[in-house]
Amino acid sequence: MLLRIPALLTPDEVRRCRQALESAAWQDGRTTAGHVAAQVKSNLQLPLDSATGQQIGDLILDRLGRNPLFMSAALPLKVLPPRFNRYEGGGKSGNHGYGNHIDNAFFTIPGTAIKVRTDVSTTVFFSDPYEYEGGELMVQDTYGEQSVKLAAGDAIIYPGTSLHRVNPVTRGTRYASFFWTHSLIKSAEQRRLLFDLDQSIQQLTQEQPGHARIASLSGTYHNLLRMWSEA
Ligand code: NI
Repeated sequence: MLLRIPALLTPDEVRRCRQALESAAWQDGRTTAGHVAAQVKSNLQLPLDSATGQQIGDLILDRLGRNPLFMSAALPLKVLPPRFNRYEGGGKSGNHGYGNHIDNAFFTIPGTAIKVRTDVSTTVFFSDPYEYEGGELMVQDTYGEQSVKLAAGDAIIYPGTSLHRVNPVTRGTRYASFFWTHSLIKSAEQRRLLFDLDQSIQQLTQEQPGHARIASLSGTYHNLLRMWSEA
């Protein structure tokens, strides 16, 4: 399931983040690419210890923690510190710098021994679609290939098991953040079921507050969560 998180950041927050990103010290993305990938990777990224990256990353994590849609869909246990990339028009390829791929299953939180399983991938857009051409995030879904290019401040989440790529940027500059969440629920199908059930319960609670079945449906939700979670 691909899910758009609209307006994760306010226009004012996006503006301040953009100012910081535009004056940050970027480095060649090839420094972190593998040998084969390095031959085609040509994006820029913030070093993992970048103060700007850490500040904006903290803001993103704070907003995600208060976002009901993200919490319901991702069911986060651990979230990796957000990373940042910048793609200039005319380069050869996009976000992760090379064609279709599936991300590594685990990443270690820098400076720790904590491993994070990449159950849910998130991209936060810091450029508006009119600022660049190309640069679409292409994600293979059960319904085929989905093309994602969202407003600055919006986020998209999709299963870490998905084949994906970013199309080459042919004009302008694309700023984005990407990171992974280790979910309480490893299976994307089970997460989807829990998300649908939770959304229905929320809707029923709004439309018919005090409905007698809300408590039993909520109980079923939590019992499924207990049964399927690995934490
Ligand atoms: Ni990737």
